[in-house]
Amino acid sequence: MAANWQPDSWKEHKALHIPEYGDADALAEAERTLGSYPPLVFAGEARNLKADLAEVAAGKAFLLQGGDCAESFAEFHPNNIRDTFRVILQMAVVLTYASKLPVVKVGRMAGQFAKPRSSPVENVDGRELPSYRGDIINGIEFDAELREPDPQRMVRAYSQAAATLNLLRAFSTGGYANLQQVHGWTHDFMGRSPWAKKYAEMADRISEALDFMEACGINPDTVPQLKATQFYTSHEALLLPYEQAMTRQDSLTGDWYDTSAHFLWIGDRTRFDGSAHVEYMRGIGNPIGMKCGPSLEPDALIRMLDMLNPAREPGRITLITRYGHDKIEAGLPKLVRAVKAEGHPVIWSCDPMHGNVIKAASGYKTRPFERILSEVRGFFAVHRAEGTTAGGIHVEMTGQNVTECTGGAVAITDEALGDRYHTHCDPRLNAAQSLELAFTLAEMLNSEMATRGREAA
Ligand code: TRP
Ligand code: MN
Repeated sequence: MAANWQPDSWKEHKALHIPEYGDADALAEAERTLGSYPPLVFAGEARNLKADLAEVAAGKAFLLQGGDCAESFAEFHPNNIRDTFRVILQMAVVLTYASKLPVVKVGRMAGQFAKPRSSPVENVDGRELPSYRGDIINGIEFDAELREPDPQRMVRAYSQAAATLNLLRAFSTGGYANLQQVHGWTHDFMGRSPWAKKYAEMADRISEALDFMEACGINPDTVPQLKATQFYTSHEALLLPYEQAMTRQDSLTGDWYDTSAHFLWIGDRTRFDGSAHVEYMRGIGNPIGMKCGPSLEPDALIRMLDMLNPAREPGRITLITRYGHDKIEAGLPKLVRAVKAEGHPVIWSCDPMHGNVIKAASGYKTRPFERILSEVRGFFAVHRAEGTTAGGIHVEMTGQNVTECTGGAVAITDEALGDRYHTHCDPRLNAAQSLELAFTLAEMLNSEMATRGREAA
């Protein structure tokens, strides 16, 4: 257990990107309510994820983390949850099939509500209001009253997270994720994508293998792993009053866990020396992530690792790199070398989204698909050169047929961005782009595994 730590010791540190609530009594009331509600996840589940991630750290599994940039109250619908879940299943099955590695599946779902913003205020037509910070804090509408941070929104976010998680648990263990359903996870609107055809061919081969095994007596009843999957949840632990209210002491071990999700991460803007977010994260037993961008120096990273993982527990830390397609190959090696030299066991995961945001001529914020692929390629190249493991991918995606990122096999043009641009924050990959990314990634993983095999021989 971390020394000199309490669920609220972060309050003695420098807290950025946490709103000032005008009504202290209303905040305390919401915190009390949350504190009396059941945990969303159990400590034992967080420990299972940590063990799965230790396999990733050892190069024996791959991490797939994906979901919305920001979940919203408005888009809360079972079909949206199902559609994102099924694309993650498709991606996972493509990656598993190609790499022959187990894939650890983690959603940016059931709690990904709070957003750090570059400016605390937004100006529209000469009027200034507080920026939108995510539905757990205030409203997206440009309206003075709705932009005030409202603590009651935390309670609503909890309920939405609980219902989302309940559905995800049902999907992952109740038959929907059965490998025999592999054909059924394709979205109808993906018909035009050449990758849908490639997916159908792969699904045929999997079905054939399953038929063969069935004849040998191996089926979902005899081998339950075929009919269920382990699906974990994650979000950025940004809104510390919420996370603190969800922090519980595990009755088995006495350790503290953040029971709002299995996995929490610290953002690029809140991971500085002396930060309240680092202080909070160091005391929870969950596996945690840290975003690493171009501003992070190797010595600062090592200080963070010593603080967040003094016991050097494998699976505890995932470093999620977000450099930009043109910066990764120059910037990442120095971090990789420093971590390797220190002997810290980490998972290196690639976020190819956040360093590749541009403003399209149409005015929309977008991410060119080619740059996303290019950052992933750079990520693999760095790890290949440094002799380390490309352990995972972290993407903002949705199962909806949105037009938010340009490019892909079913090319989305700058002009088309306005057609179905629905995100509450950053542009997400749509279902077809997500599948295309998975196939490209699978190829890289496959050649990575072949190289490892050659080196081992
Ligand atoms: N249980 C295994 C796993 O989660 C196999 C599996 C079942 C699976 N359903 C799946 C793999 C859906 C990927 C997608 O890896
Ligand atoms: Mn984002």
